[in-house]
Amino acid sequence: MSNPSHPSRFDVVVIGAGAAGMMCAAEAGQRGRRVLLLDHASRLAEKIRISGGGRCNFTNLDVGVAHYLSRNPQFCRSALARFTPGHFIERINRHGIPWHERDHGQLFCDDSAQDIIDMLRAGCEDGKVSWAMPCTLDAVAAGQAPGERFVLETSHGRIACDNLVVATGGLSIPKIGASPLGYRIAEQFGLAIVPPRPALVPLTLPPEELTIYQDLAGMAFDAVAECGDGHFRENLLFTHRGLSGPVILQVSSYWQSRDYEKTNGATCGGAQVTINLFPADDVRDWLAERARSKTLLGNLLAERLPKRFAHAWCEQRGWNRPANQFNGKELDAVAAALSGWVIAPNGTLGYAKAEVTVGGVDTRALSSKTMEARAVPGLYFVGEVMDVTGHLGGYNFQWAWASGYAAGQSV
Ligand code: FDA
Repeated sequence: MSNPSHPSRFDVVVIGAGAAGMMCAAEAGQRGRRVLLLDHASRLAEKIRISGGGRCNFTNLDVGVAHYLSRNPQFCRSALARFTPGHFIERINRHGIPWHERDHGQLFCDDSAQDIIDMLRAGCEDGKVSWAMPCTLDAVAAGQAPGERFVLETSHGRIACDNLVVATGGLSIPKIGASPLGYRIAEQFGLAIVPPRPALVPLTLPPEELTIYQDLAGMAFDAVAECGDGHFRENLLFTHRGLSGPVILQVSSYWQSRDYEKTNGATCGGAQVTINLFPADDVRDWLAERARSKTLLGNLLAERLPKRFAHAWCEQRGWNRPANQFNGKELDAVAAALSGWVIAPNGTLGYAKAEVTVGGVDTRALSSKTMEARAVPGLYFVGEVMDVTGHLGGYNFQWAWASGYAAGQSV
């Protein structure tokens, strides 16, 4: 895919041939700009390929500002409004890519995520985009000549461009090419970074909790989980290291260690996760109806929760006696604990297992219309490298398409 004979001057160089970078390059190329797409990986768009279990959850029918985390919560509004899920669906329909809807408005390819990669690559070909891949970027400097605002030192030689688009993504899954290069370029040009942390990631439990629950690995049930501003209802899954499943992945984006809290001050997150084990019922009424039962509390709870979990959870609290041996106050305490089981994770499985990164280039220095750095004409950031992080459900790709499109129309 690399083309060593490309000219060394371009209107636009896009660093990172992932979701946002390819979208941006295709749009700019189709507007007649001379575009080079550069990536250090040898395989194209690996994150798209592995996404959604290989079927790419490419967008969601219900996309809004509330589905994103950012220190600058309204930043994503403009770009999302100008390139909507409908626009992306229209494109994939035009390319004849079969797709289907799953729960919560999530849209997936019927066949393979490769269909999305092929469509984006075809868009780049229509825009006569040049490729440098694999290509290492060694340094970026401000250029001196007209039309050469940036000069790049790369393994393909020196490349000059008028617009530089940073589309290097987040830090998750380093083994397929994630790197902090985008943050370093931002810092070099005086832009701030919101400290990154892994998100949409399983949480780990401290050893004393793990010994109680580790035999339950693989067990899953419906729960509500809350952390900071995050509130979700989906399946919770026990693992050998702690907790996972969609509800935990969602709240993990809001979970932050006490150290992160101390260093970064108030954010929309928290260090504890509160789980409602009885999301469908008024648990106090449910218990009151069974207050005279001679059945062990654990066995009663097993009507609603997996039996082994119910027993382990009661055991941990010394509540393994018949329901009729609990007085009213104690039943209040049981109800409160069932609807507000507080856990204090001691970490996450880290970037190796995270789907995305919370934090990144601080958007307060960027134009929400074009993604250009206000103080550095010609320097753009698109996709996950920015401090805009979507919930699970196709929101991160929709941000990549929308921000890539916005910059592609401007460069
Ligand atoms: P992306 O990561 O796609 O691309 C960045 C590119 O920059 C890469 O090609 C990389 O090689 C390149 N790069 C990095 N450093 C570089 C350097 N130093 N020099 C040159 N190139 C460099 N989202 C969603 O909406 N639906 C889903 O189904 C999923 N599923 C999913 C599964 C898994 C396992 C993961 C890890 C992630 C997801 N996501 C997801 C998240 C989604 O993949 C992610 O948010 C987007 O790919 C972000 O698009 P970007 O273009 O910003 O980065």
